[in-house]
Amino acid sequence: MALLGVNIDHVATIRQARQTVEPDPVWAATLAELGGADSITVHLREDRRHIQDRDLEVLRRTVQGKLNLEAAIAPAMVDIACRVRPDQVTLVPERREEITTEGGLDVTGHRAATATAVGRLHDAGIAVSLFIDPDPRQIEAAVALHVAAGELYTGEYANATPMAARHDELVRLASAATLVREARLVLNAGHGLTYRNVVPVAELDGMHELNIGHSIVSRAVLVGFTQAVREMKQLVQ
Ligand code: PXP
Repeated sequence: MALLGVNIDHVATIRQARQTVEPDPVWAATLAELGGADSITVHLREDRRHIQDRDLEVLRRTVQGKLNLEAAIAPAMVDIACRVRPDQVTLVPERREEITTEGGLDVTGHRAATATAVGRLHDAGIAVSLFIDPDPRQIEAAVALHVAAGELYTGEYANATPMAARHDELVRLASAATLVREARLVLNAGHGLTYRNVVPVAELDGMHELNIGHSIVSRAVLVGFTQAVREMKQLVQ
C-alpha cells in the first residue's frame, strides 16, 4: 500500500487569516507524525500566503520522518531549499493569482529553467521530485532530467464528474503511472485527493506515496470541533 505524505499548508492558512501564532503548523506536523504520516509536506509559496520561512526552518529541525518541500523553480526558492536542505524538493508550478496549484509543472515548456533548478538541488544533495500532469510528454521530459521521483497531478481525476469521466481520468493516471514506473522513477501522486476518492489512486500499481492536504485539514477541523467548543464552554461558565 502507499505511504502517506501530509501537507500542512492549510493549517498555516488558518493562522495567516489572523496573522497570529495559532494554529502552528509545526504542532500539526508533530501530530501528523504521531498519527502515522510518512512524510510532511509544505509549500513555501513566493507570496508566503500560508507557510512562512520560519515554519520551514523549524520543521527542518522537528520533523522526524521525511520533510518534503514544494517549491517553484524560481532561483530565490531554490536558494532557500539549498540552504534549509529538506529531504526532498518537489518542484511545482506557481501562479500568484491561482487559489491552489492548478496542474503539473510544464517541464517541456520550461526545460532549461527546470534543469537548472534540478541541477542546483542535486548539487546540494537533495532528492528531487517533479509534479507533473499524467501526460507522456511531461513524464518523458522529467525522466530526461534524472530526477528521483514523479508526482502525478490528480486534480483532473478529483474534479471529474460524472463517474464515467472520473473513470477515464483514473485510466489516464494508470497509464502515466506505468510510464513513471518503467522509467524507474519513484511514483507519487497528489492534489484534490479526499476520503472518498483516494482508494483507487492508492491502489494503482507501484504507487509509493500520496500527498494529501486540504481534505485532512478539513476533516481535522470538524472532528475536533465538538471538543474544542466543550473546552471553551468550561472556561466561560
Ligand atoms: N501535491 C502537490 C504537488 C501540491 O501542490 C498539493 C497542493 O499544495 C498537494 C499535493 C496536496 O493537495 P491537496 O491539498 O488538494 O490535498
